[in-house]
Amino acid sequence: MAPSNCTRYLDDGTPYRVYDCTEPGLHVNREQWKQAMLEAFALLSPQSRWQRFASGSASLTEAQLDYLTDVDGSSRVACCAVIPDRRKVRGIGIARYVRLDNDPDCAEFAVTVIDRCQGQGVGRALMRHLIGEARRNGIKTLVGNVLPSNTRMLALCRALGATTSRDGDFIRVSLMC
Ligand SMILES: CC(C)(COP(=O)(O)OP(=O)(O)OC[C@H]1O[C@@H](n2cnc3c(N)ncnc32)[C@H](O)[C@@H]1OP(=O)(O)O)[C@@H](O)C(=O)NCCC(=O)NCCS
Repeated sequence: MAPSNCTRYLDDGTPYRVYDCTEPGLHVNREQWKQAMLEAFALLSPQSRWQRFASGSASLTEAQLDYLTDVDGSSRVACCAVIPDRRKVRGIGIARYVRLDNDPDCAEFAVTVIDRCQGQGVGRALMRHLIGEARRNGIKTLVGNVLPSNTRMLALCRALGATTSRDGDFIRVSLMC
């Protein structure tokens, strides 16, 4: 299998790579990361925002940015898909997990890919990388809540071997690491 951070290609030939966001090779400080998150968020359709955040808000708040970029490489991990660019960080997707306080073998995950890059394998590449990081950090199960209408996310999770069960308004997804 190719290394998880090898160069990959979008359908139009644009190269991108998947990184752990704390990786020194990414050369990104937290402020640059927040800026890249804001720019990527602006490229999400209302539907994608709703599917990811269950909210239609037009931007991320400073508190959300603080939370989303607060990683420690073990219990709070984020992996990003980035198009190489000398001048700025061009993020096209991000996957993250946060270990559960009451069940340290388990972490809650979420993943987002900007609309124009969806359906091209980016989400799958991010999830594979995230699962690898989770395994390396002793996490046995990744869990997430997905809207029943989110067929793409459910198909991706099932293709990765997830089990699913109904949980109120959501589908609860469990992935073994
Ligand atoms: C859900 C999401 C992360 C998937 O990422 P993606 O890059 O679009 O998905 P991929 O291209 O890697 O596709 C993975 C699998 O999804 C399925 N899939 C892809 N396109 C699909 C479509 N149009 N309809 C249904 N399933 C589809 C397939 O099983 C595909 O596997 P395949 O390539 O072997 O056919 C992305 O669409 C997204 O960010 N959506 C908005 C935010 C969101 O829903 N986040 C999840 C909440 S936790």
